[in-house]
Formats: sequence, C-alpha cells, structure tokens
Amino acid sequence: MNKAPPKNGAAAVHPPKKIGAHGHPFTPKWGKVNVIKHDVVVIGGGLAGMRAAVEAAENGADVAIVSKMHPVRSHSGAAQGGINAALGNREEDSPEAHTFDTVKGSDYLGDQDAIAAMCEDAPKQIIWLEHRGCIFSRLPDGKIAQRPFGGAGVQRTCYSADVTGLVILHTLWEQLERFNVKVYEEYFCTALSVDDGIGTGVVAYNMRNGELEEIAAKATIFATGGAGRMYLKTTNGYASTADGMGIAYKAGLPLMDMEFMQFHPTTLKENGVLMTEGARGEGAYLLNSAGERFMFKYAPNKGELASRDVVSRAEWTEILEGRGVEGCVLLDMRHLGREKILERLPQIRELALDATGKDAVNEPIPILPGAHYTMGGIETDKFGATRVPGVYAAGECACVSVHGANRLGGNSLLETIVFGARAAKHASQYVKEIGDVRPSGRTLAAERDRINELLARPSGVRAPALRHKMNGAMSEGAFIFRDARGLAQTYDQVVEVRKEFDKSAYVMDKSSTFNTDLIGALETDFLIDAALCLSKGALERQESRGAQARTDFPERDDEKWMKHTLAWREPDGTPKLDYSRGITITKYEPTVRTY
Ligand code: FUM
Repeated sequence: MNKAPPKNGAAAVHPPKKIGAHGHPFTPKWGKVNVIKHDVVVIGGGLAGMRAAVEAAENGADVAIVSKMHPVRSHSGAAQGGINAALGNREEDSPEAHTFDTVKGSDYLGDQDAIAAMCEDAPKQIIWLEHRGCIFSRLPDGKIAQRPFGGAGVQRTCYSADVTGLVILHTLWEQLERFNVKVYEEYFCTALSVDDGIGTGVVAYNMRNGELEEIAAKATIFATGGAGRMYLKTTNGYASTADGMGIAYKAGLPLMDMEFMQFHPTTLKENGVLMTEGARGEGAYLLNSAGERFMFKYAPNKGELASRDVVSRAEWTEILEGRGVEGCVLLDMRHLGREKILERLPQIRELALDATGKDAVNEPIPILPGAHYTMGGIETDKFGATRVPGVYAAGECACVSVHGANRLGGNSLLETIVFGARAAKHASQYVKEIGDVRPSGRTLAAERDRINELLARPSGVRAPALRHKMNGAMSEGAFIFRDARGLAQTYDQVVEVRKEFDKSAYVMDKSSTFNTDLIGALETDFLIDAALCLSKGALERQESRGAQARTDFPERDDEKWMKHTLAWREPDGTPKLDYSRGITITKYEPTVRTY
C-alpha cells in the first residue's frame, strides 16, 4: 500500500490493518492524493445540478459535476406531472397570480420575495428549455399545453405527457455534452471543505476504486435532492438520502424548516411509486369504499385539486374512519377513456399495471399518501447562497424558501430550473472575484479517519438494520397526523439510532470497488441527521400549518409561529433549534387558507 504523506499539508493517515468478515484484507488506498480543481463544482446530477452546470458553463466558468450516479438516472427523472409557469396562454394568469397561489399554498410560511423571483423567472426558463429542444406536450395551435394542478387558481402546469422530469433531464444532459462539462460519475461526496470561513470544495469517494479525493473549487453548489428515504414508503428513488443536507449540516450550516415533509396523495400501496397529480389534473376522481367522491367534503371548491396537504389529510381521514379499501382509497381514471390515458398518462398506467396488475383504463387503482418531497433543506437566500461564502444549494436539498409549509405540485421542477440557474449565475460571478482557493487538506484527513474507522470496525450493527429502525420510527410518529407523544417517541428512537450508528455501525464489505455496503452506511448517516431535524422541528412547532398537522395543536398560530426553523448540529449530532429567521412578507398578509 502506498503510504506517501499527502502533499497538501494534511497529516498522513495510516489505516489499521484489519481482516474483513469474509477474510478480505482491508486495504483502502489512502496514500494517494489526487487533487482535482475547478472554478465551480456542482454536487448532484439531477435537474437542479445539470441546470446549474449549464448556467455556469454559459457564464464562462470551468465547471464540473460530481454525482453518485449517471445524471440521467437521477431521481428527477421520476417527476411526472409537470412544471408551472404563467406563460401567458391564459389572460387570467400572470406571475403575480402564480406568486399568490404559491404563497397561499405555502400556508404563508414561504418567503414572498423568493416566491415572486421564482414565478417571474418561470416563463423565461420554460422558453430557455424549449429553445434547447425540450419536447413539451402541445395544444393544437402549437402552444405549450398546460394542465390544471392542485392548489392553482388557473391551468398553469406545462408537461410532457407524464414523463416531464425525464424529458427535461435529457434536454439538460444534451446541454452538458454541448459544453463538455466534466462529470465525475460514481463519485460519492462525503464532506464540504471550509477553510478560513470560505468553501474550498469537497471531499469525494471514488466508488470505482475506493480512493478518497479532494475536489477543490472556488464555489460549490449542492443539488443532491431530497430525503424521502427517511420513511418506509416514499415516491423517492433509493438515491434520495439527504446527502447534501447531511454534508452541509455536519459542516456547520443550518437546515431550515425540516419538519415540513410533503406526503403526496397518490402513491401505489405496493411500492410507493408516484401516480401523478396530473391524473387528477386531467379529471380523475378519488373514491372511498362507498364509491363517493369524498374530496368535496374537505375542499368544497377544489375537490381533488385542493393542495396536497389537504388531499393527503382527507384520504388518511377516510382510511382512519373506516371508509378505505384495504388501507387505501381509489384513483379512478376510467371515465377519461383509453385514448386520453394513453396520450397523457401512459407511464402511470404502465407503472400501476406492473405493480398491481390493474389496468387504469378499466379499473380504479388503490392509492394512499406517501412521503414525496422534503420542503426543508439547506438554508439559502434567493440566489442560492448559504451563510458560507462559496457554498450554494439549489433544488430539493435547499430551502430558499419557496414552498414554506406546503409545496404546490409543479413547483418542484420549476424550483430546480430557476434556482439551479440563479445559484450558478451568482456562483459564476463570485468565482471571478475570489481569486484562487486552496483546501487545507484538513477535511480530507478527517474524512479518511472517519471512513477508516468505519471500515476497520470488525463487528457491530449493519446500517440497513439501523435505517429500518429509523424508517419505522419516522413512519409511525412523524407521518401525516402528528402529536407531542408520537413525535417525542420518534425523536427519542432516532436519537438512539444516532448513538448506535456512531458507536457500532458495521460495514461488512471491506473492499474498495463499488462498495455499496459502505455507501449505504454513509447515506444512512445523512438520513439520520435529516430525521432528527425533522422530528425535533415538528415536536417543537406547536401549531398546524401546511403539511405539519398536529392533532394536539390543530390551529395555525401566526402570532407565535410565523418564523422559520433553523436546525444546527450539536457535536452529538442532535439538532439545536433556532427561530431567529422571520418570514419575508411583501404583499400578501396571512389569511385563512381554504380550497
Ligand atoms: O404528481 C406529480 O406529478 C408530482 C409533481 C410534483 O411533485 O411537482
């Protein structure tokens, strides 16, 4: 093993010689130091990450993406129903109307300046995508088609059948190729380097050969997606493991509004897979066991197209009160007809057919709410900048905050595109002004120690078992309806998981090539941090607002709780909460929210 000291000033690290459980020698190749350098590195290759990289390239920055998977395999490809923008197709629509719907949808917790910025940028970004070949569904006159979505006052959601995320993903991938953006694929980012108070890049684990590498950058943009894998049932891909959130939190940045997890109303019971809101947008019904369209009891004006928090609570109430069908309610598309289903919703028909054997053309599909979108995340301003110069975040891993307590469907794809571009524009300017940066090597050395220690442990509890415990606790006490008792129990259980992880997490595979056992453990570590912030934030927030429905505090309390939750990491991993950041209100005073 090459034991040459690192050249960048970091202390040499000598991993203990151990024999793995299967008799393989434990031989990570820690001696080599491979420092990669760019102006801007983007962590994550989904929509926010690719949009950021293209914007940085267009602005003349030397930019690279670091991603644990090939960009077009990222979870953004699972986004189905569409992307919101007031395109001007309808007289009654405008960026202001979009802003108002989003502020109201957020239950007045979103920052109104950031929401207005997003809604104003939206039409420009759709045209930007269109000019780069994005294939949106069209109206007969050639205009981009828009479908109704929940919580919107007007039909505003642009779409590509029910594969919108995938279509945009491919468009952006082509742009990456056009600009020759370097992609460090199958690199798992483990830590953020901060030296003298500024971001100096990241440390990443090369999954192909087990090297831990320093990636120096003047600006780092996190775009790593959400944390849905905290829960047992989720629409999120296996990769949605809070990586960026966990890295930022461990590096001393606060996570904001983590208690607000969105539960999507229509997910498959069998596997948690998304059945797009676009189905209801096209006219599908929600039925209970009596065949009743129950949503009008809960949202007399909007019915199935109320906002997601309202629909998920209504479904869960029907199920809890005994009007469910085997623990579900039904999504009925039959009246839409075969032709419309095949044209507009072909993917979900196939997904449901594969998982349930039921053909939506002929039968209603059993569905229930599932964890879908992390509305909290790394605190940023409306340019994607965090509190550490040179460190940015965009997309689901960030909290700008444009979603507040409840995100509107169709605003997540929009957020990735708008804030990916905004963060990169800001970062490209920053890198022109900052001069050279040089990571001290401290983070690399610390990461080597941390990972060595984990790999060297000869026995203990395997990460999947710990993750399963956390998933169970979160699904039990931090689901749609919450109360102090359940949340406290969940929090305590996750604290126990945190302790067990730190003391005895055991990686059985000691090899250095595609060590998915190790990667899974590192991901679990990030998820535990996110789950602690979520459950503690939900416990402390003694009110019901958006997706946080407290049965013991059923009312929204504007007097006490018009403030963001900031979670800072204590040395033992538990969050310390702080409510010093208020809500930015520009135009819309909070009023009672009805649909
Ligand atoms: O239902 C959906 O298609 C999901 C859209 C979204 O989360 O924005």
